[in-house]
Amino acid sequence: MSYTDKMLRDGALQGKNIVVTGGGSGLGKSMTRYFLELGAKVAITSRNLEKLQNTAKELETETGGTCLPLQCDVREYDQVESMKNQVLKAFGTVDVLLNNAAGNFISPTERLSHRAFDTIIDIVLKGTKNCTLAFGKHWIDTNYKNTVVLNIVTTYAWTGSAYVVPSATAKAGVLAMTRSLAVEWAKYGMRFNAIAPGPFPTKGAWDRLLPGELKEKFDMKKQVPLARVGDHQELANLAAYLVSDFSAYVNGEVVTLDGGEWLKGAGQFNLLEQVPEEMWDMLEAMIRAKKSK
Ligand code: HXC
Ligand code: NAP
Repeated sequence: MSYTDKMLRDGALQGKNIVVTGGGSGLGKSMTRYFLELGAKVAITSRNLEKLQNTAKELETETGGTCLPLQCDVREYDQVESMKNQVLKAFGTVDVLLNNAAGNFISPTERLSHRAFDTIIDIVLKGTKNCTLAFGKHWIDTNYKNTVVLNIVTTYAWTGSAYVVPSATAKAGVLAMTRSLAVEWAKYGMRFNAIAPGPFPTKGAWDRLLPGELKEKFDMKKQVPLARVGDHQELANLAAYLVSDFSAYVNGEVVTLDGGEWLKGAGQFNLLEQVPEEMWDMLEAMIRAKKSK
């Protein structure tokens, strides 16, 4: 067995109807593939319908499952309501909302126009809010229980990060929403959880966060104690568990899947990793010598 293997038993998501925002590419597509393999029906949504249609066709052929492509800009509440109605018409019910759509790029904050800042906040925070309100209110109104909202955040949701300030600000809001509604809407039979991925190579993220030479200069693997980036299947395994009934007692949690990356950046003395092994005898002797004086 390895971390690239599929984790859950066959049929683990049979009978579940799932909406994945941003499901046409990257991590959303990988999670959708695994949900379909496990027997769920999945609606994938984003702005680019042609991309969604191609992905849906590819994944249906690969898995034999049902994948419904629907255009929806999560920034627009009317479009979210219309998407919700189309999924309900096709599937009858929705059990899981996976808020995965995001926008991001690196930039010194002083170079951003107020519209640029808004664009990221609108996709990430307002988009998650729009989808959560639309599906959450529907579940309350129809008394439909045993539902799950899974939000994709990042580890800088709680540490903050320079040069991606709109994204950090928005993801922090999503994390607060996750934990708040985990308490408030549990009485309606909803669970709210989040995943905070470390670096998982995708075209969408890498083109905008590591353009050109930055890919070599900032080798993501070097920032991870486990010295590797994430594999899409290990994220899909975790997401499938969190949307399945196996995680029925997990609520309000954010699961970090980053090989220890954020802690390595956080610890004040982590830089001591650069001290060569052979120097430690000398350093120890120096420290011990101080004690006896
Ligand atoms: C400064 C920029 C800019 C840049 C756009 N803008 N790109 N400003 N530097 N690189 C400004 C524009 O000039 C405009 O402001 C405003 O932002 C909106 O730009 P549009 O191009 O009109 O926006 P839109 O077409 O809505 O596209 C949104 C986008 C784009 C975010 C800019 O990149 C996109 O579609 N992204 C979706 C996918 C994505 O980002 N995936 C990565 C997720 S990765 P003005 O003032 O000119 O009107 C992620 C990983 C986290 O989240 C952690 C990793 C470790
Ligand atoms: P990605 O492929 O660029 O995914 C982002 C998706 O969001 C795209 O499919 C995009 O589709 C969609 N989207 C963007 N704006 C939208 C809008 N206004 N309305 C609806 N959909 C919209 O990048 P990714 O790396 O897979 O990212 C997926 C998630 O993982 C994001 O939440 C990201 O923050 C998170 N994450 C990724 C990493 C990583 O290392 N990759 C690390 C931490 C967190 P359209 O362009 O067709 O709209």
